[in-house]
Amino acid sequence: MKPGISKFVWFDGKYTTLEKAKVPITTHAIHYGTSIFEGIRAYWNSENLNIFRLEDHIKRFRNSGRFYSISLGYTDEELIDAVINLCKKNNIKKSCYIRPFYFVGEYGINLHVNENAPVHAAMFMFPFGDLFNKNGISAGISSWRKFSDASTPPLAKMGGNYLNSILATQECKRNGYDEAIMLDLKGNVSEAPGENIFTVKDGKLMTPPLSSSALEGLTRDSVIKLAEDFGYQVKESEITRGQMYLADEVFLTGTAAEITPITHIDNKKIGTGKTGKITQQLMSAYLDVVMNKNEKYSSWVTSVY
Ligand SMILES: Cc1ncc(COP(=O)(O)O)c(C=O)c1O
Repeated sequence: MKPGISKFVWFDGKYTTLEKAKVPITTHAIHYGTSIFEGIRAYWNSENLNIFRLEDHIKRFRNSGRFYSISLGYTDEELIDAVINLCKKNNIKKSCYIRPFYFVGEYGINLHVNENAPVHAAMFMFPFGDLFNKNGISAGISSWRKFSDASTPPLAKMGGNYLNSILATQECKRNGYDEAIMLDLKGNVSEAPGENIFTVKDGKLMTPPLSSSALEGLTRDSVIKLAEDFGYQVKESEITRGQMYLADEVFLTGTAAEITPITHIDNKKIGTGKTGKITQQLMSAYLDVVMNKNEKYSSWVTSVY
């Protein structure tokens, strides 16, 4: 077994082991990036394993393929059951990350991907803790711009799209930062390689709109709702690089990153250079929601056991 990855996986409708789930070298997705994926977290709260926003992840999972006429041969119910049953089969009683994906299989060198292309679907999982240091990280603005709808749709969570993220990440690590921030083609703030971004200024939150080439993140949506519950104004608005430097607080949101404070950008302090009060408040509220400790949002949580 690969270190960390749970023994059982789901592949084309069946449960099998990681060792047995193999694909041929002629798989189209390996050559052309024709794969679609989701990242889902499940949280162990010492009583149950709670999968966060499972139905919404499955909805985005299906929609991502629609841009490319790549169809999932399973209903939402089948996929939801598969995620739940995979957790049960692996008898996971720890917080973990679940990775469902589907991809074009053997289709030669044919770029005319259509409904006739063979599609395979799979999922695996592994125990997972923090992605980033929750006390705050540094970020650098990448010279690689976020791709836009003018070339490939940023709303599709496609394997091939992440080459852009990889270039930005390589650059930021080379320059000694923890994470990259990408600007859109107009030069406004877009997002991080695998996270959305928020700024806080004078008690008001802003996050780039989808027209700034940001992915429609589910954590972003959750944070907007939680911030509004606290009475904060949240605006989806273009954010200039300058506005971001002068924000009181900046934080990232994502399934893997959850809410991660950014305390420095391009070696400049953001606000006090420490996690801001509103960021802290949202981090704690988010943790309550994912741990199924906030009744208002219990419909966002699917308990496994
Ligand atoms: C490019 C990109 N932006 C934003 C996000 C955050 O989305 P979510 O909160 O749904 O995980 C992700 C992660 O899925 C991502 O890959």
